[in-house]
Amino acid sequence: MTGTSADVSVGGKSVELPTRSGTIGPDVIDIGTLYKNTGTFTYDPGFTSTASCESKITYIDGDEGVLLHRGYPIEQLAEHGDFLEVCYLLLYGELPTKAQKDDFDYRVTHHTMVHEQMSKFFTGFRRDAHPMAVMCGVVGALSAFYHDSTDITDPHQRMVASLRMIAKMPTIAAMAFKYHIGQPFVYPKNDLDYASNFLRMCFAVPCEEYTANPVLSRAMDRIFILHADHEQNASTSTVRLAGSSGANPFACIAAGIACLWGPAHGGANEAALNMLAEIGSVDRIPEYIAKAKDKNDPFRLMGFGHRVYKNYDPRARIMQKTTHEVLGELGIKDDPMLEVAMELERIALTDDYFVEKKLYPNIDFYSGITLKALGFPTTMFTVLFALARTVGWIAQWNEMIEDPEQRIGRPRQLYIGEPKRDYVPVSKR
Ligand code: CMC
Repeated sequence: MTGTSADVSVGGKSVELPTRSGTIGPDVIDIGTLYKNTGTFTYDPGFTSTASCESKITYIDGDEGVLLHRGYPIEQLAEHGDFLEVCYLLLYGELPTKAQKDDFDYRVTHHTMVHEQMSKFFTGFRRDAHPMAVMCGVVGALSAFYHDSTDITDPHQRMVASLRMIAKMPTIAAMAFKYHIGQPFVYPKNDLDYASNFLRMCFAVPCEEYTANPVLSRAMDRIFILHADHEQNASTSTVRLAGSSGANPFACIAAGIACLWGPAHGGANEAALNMLAEIGSVDRIPEYIAKAKDKNDPFRLMGFGHRVYKNYDPRARIMQKTTHEVLGELGIKDDPMLEVAMELERIALTDDYFVEKKLYPNIDFYSGITLKALGFPTTMFTVLFALARTVGWIAQWNEMIEDPEQRIGRPRQLYIGEPKRDYVPVSKR
């Protein structure tokens, strides 16, 4: 690779590929003309060396443990901002003025109700359905209810769809929860802030008054901020790929939810808490550490490791602090799961296997404990992740639609199946 280009020579054919520089982070080699000039593709399963797009939204330096949204460090946003401010930042690129913030909050707040007919949709599911299964179905169904915001070529309709999804996702998530536990749906209450409104829709019942606890609302809001976006992860790439065909925004977000559900991605917070419960006590930790290191055992320490962070996940640090605030507020002193978590973290951070492979705790390690303390069952954890990540998906989807270089996403493959052969009639096989 020379200063501004990389020379590639394959089978006697050479091509000079230009490099591109971002504002920060490594340069990329633009391989767009590689096939045309050499007849070869690149091969990169898991996309470990491939940038799939240009983006101005989020920057991660995994080696240094840095996460920036539109240039602002996540620590500052989580400390000083609120979730809707971060939503505005992700969508529009700048922090809002006071007037812009008030207007945005008002617009989101006044889209929180869902079409009444949608409540009937929930009752079609079994009560014991996983709430993520319900989310995939109901969010996809939004396109059947809000036709007036599915024309992706109209920027106004795109913004209406974006606001609708940010506003309605808490309502839908809370309805999935209420249906799951057999309680009546609670309508949104628009004089509450975003997080308090969500907690109320989840935990209020018609027979009792509900008062939002500001410490718990702030913790919920912070969890939303920490999950808002994370550049081109699996679910975001899924949303972009789905959107690249011109699919409507609700369908694209439903695709993102489906991808997020997997235990290697958003499902890890549920898996991490289940793992802490399974370990049960500090004295059993060595047994599980040994399992995690055993090449013949598929077990992995859930909540540890990350494709991009090879340092402490900056979100995990903030989450750890939030966990202690919530447990303090609720007077939970001797939580056995927290005890196991702290000891597991201590051992993993000093164990050669984890140190050499740079396997640090990720955000899911602590978020599960906090969500459990807030009163959510493990099945809801990934739903809350989906709720918060919706704004990231939406911002990335909008950016993709506005990108003049945008084309349908269509990866190539290395075919390793049978070469051409002739059909054999069944009587001769
Ligand atoms: N426990 C034990 N060993 C691990 C773990 C773990 N949690 N994670 C990675 N390794 C080992 C892995 O066996 C491999 O070893 P070797 O080089 O000897 O074969 C090495 O570390 C590299 O692992 P990898 O699977 O190649 O790494 P990846 O970048 O493909 O996977 C990951 C990243 C997050 C899927 C993986 O670390 C993992 O499965 N972690 C547990 C699940 C989890 O906590 N996921 C949440 C991610 S953060 C939230 C989100 O993005 O949704």
